[in-house]
Amino acid sequence: MKAIEIRNKYLNFFKNHGHKVIPSAPLIPENDPSVLFTTAGMQPLVPYLLGEKHPEGTRLTDYQKCLRTNDIDEVGDNRHLTYFEMLGNWSLGDYFKEESVAMSFEFLTKELGIPVEKLSVTCFAGDEDAPKDTVTAECWKKAGIPEERIYFYGKDDNWWIAGEEGPCGPDTEMFYDTGKPACSPECQPSCDCGKYVEIWNNVFMEYYKTKDGKYEKLKQYNVDTGLGLERMTMLLQGKETPFDTELFAPIMQKLSELAKVDNIESRRIVTEHLRASMMVITDGGRPSNVDRGYVLRKLIRRMSRHLNKLQIDLSELAGLIDLNIDILKELYPELEKNREVIKQVIIEEKDKFMKTLAHGEKEFEKAINKAKQENKNVIDGQTIFKLYETYGFPPEITADLAAEQGFKIDNTEFEKLFKEHQEKSRMGSEQKFKGGLAEQNEKTIAYHTATHLLHKALQIVLGEHAKQKGSNITTERLRFDFSHPEKMTKEQLQKVEDIVNEQIARDLPVTCEEMTLEEAKASGATGLFENKYGEKVKVYTIGDFSKEICGGPHVSHTGELGHFKIKKEESSSAGVRRIKAVLSD
Ligand code: SER
Repeated sequence: MKAIEIRNKYLNFFKNHGHKVIPSAPLIPENDPSVLFTTAGMQPLVPYLLGEKHPEGTRLTDYQKCLRTNDIDEVGDNRHLTYFEMLGNWSLGDYFKEESVAMSFEFLTKELGIPVEKLSVTCFAGDEDAPKDTVTAECWKKAGIPEERIYFYGKDDNWWIAGEEGPCGPDTEMFYDTGKPACSPECQPSCDCGKYVEIWNNVFMEYYKTKDGKYEKLKQYNVDTGLGLERMTMLLQGKETPFDTELFAPIMQKLSELAKVDNIESRRIVTEHLRASMMVITDGGRPSNVDRGYVLRKLIRRMSRHLNKLQIDLSELAGLIDLNIDILKELYPELEKNREVIKQVIIEEKDKFMKTLAHGEKEFEKAINKAKQENKNVIDGQTIFKLYETYGFPPEITADLAAEQGFKIDNTEFEKLFKEHQEKSRMGSEQKFKGGLAEQNEKTIAYHTATHLLHKALQIVLGEHAKQKGSNITTERLRFDFSHPEKMTKEQLQKVEDIVNEQIARDLPVTCEEMTLEEAKASGATGLFENKYGEKVKVYTIGDFSKEICGGPHVSHTGELGHFKIKKEESSSAGVRRIKAVLSD
């Protein structure tokens, strides 16, 4: 069965069981500062798991694009992926354990045709926070799983929470027996010898873990499930690794044809990181030195390094991207629409990286020679930091290059220096922020409101991807940076200007409301999010036109702004454009 068939079967099955199919949220959480990327299907649904009403009802299903980067350095082995797709179904205070288990069992055995003998399940063993989950175990028995294949484990295995605080509860996991011989007589689903592979996780969210570590009962009991598409595809096809399925195999094959020196780990890294980068770029991510941008940069740079290792000419990248889009476009039609942007961003970043490598190489060689002279096999933190700061060498690349010559790196010292550096720049930006506030007056306040109008107008004219990347206001002008891959046309600029002036002419009221971040998200507000869950934020609404989380202040009516004119549109950095605009009476 191909991945697309598994996905369709899943969504249809749950649709037929009363679930509404909702679209995947973007990989880059729109209003969630607490995580860099969407890492699970439940993440965009947190407000609803906490009790807010979902417009589509109490039974939902979807496929969710996910990126998990904590294991990025493991990619290259036979199973780790950064990007993956999670199929999920949710009950928001609707069904609970019995129906959830019954549906999972039916889907696995009837729809996917997995023989019952191949299935084992695990349930929560109980501890001081919550009782043993015998209810779920009974449901499995009733469904048809024999008692000897129902296992009980503690919180490490059978409890699910995203992060430190939030909705959580005992879970039940389903395992597929690959048929490989048991590694020992004690071999169980919790063993990672490869005999048992986890295929689905149903979380019974009954609790909320508070900041101080207490478990409080939720008002509403929910079910949150997650099934990894790539893994299921691999198992149903009887393949050893996800790289042997139709999702990756053609790229693996192509790399093998192009490589002058073959190395399966490098081919997996290239294949995996290329796919992940394409997905991140499609959802609006661009390489940079911080947060999300840095993860993307790391993916592209690591991929380029491994192409080098395979001795594949980097000019092959465009062809590899084309092939990858062709493989994946049935699953993700948005890739086709972004074909050119994806190529442009990846190739630009690769070029930058190649320059960086060339510049830093001498410095790196010096460091190696120095270490050799001193009879050391470790590159010190100072050197790694210098390579990072002056030459843009990411530490993991230094580590990679060092390893090739039999050297290690002193990461602990590097981390220390890096933290100090971050602290300094944080203090710097706080200073700047204070300066900005001191300058607040009628003119800057008007520019601030104009910035909101501009942001929205850009999204109308260019599309949702045109998101704020930066803003700077003086009494003379506004400056606004936003993600967009190419120069704007004269017509587009004119349209944006017209839309903003129209809203000014409508003299829309600007109102402010305080709410929690979850409420702000649910109300559809956009913005730059530096707040944490539960914190109160201000949401500024401009008539029926725009809604953004923002500290303010703003004018009370758009009529106060005067005439809006764009003075300049230029590139700010890779994939980011900059507009300078003025208001006149
Ligand atoms: N949230 C759970 C997981 O990520 C189930 O969807 O595994």
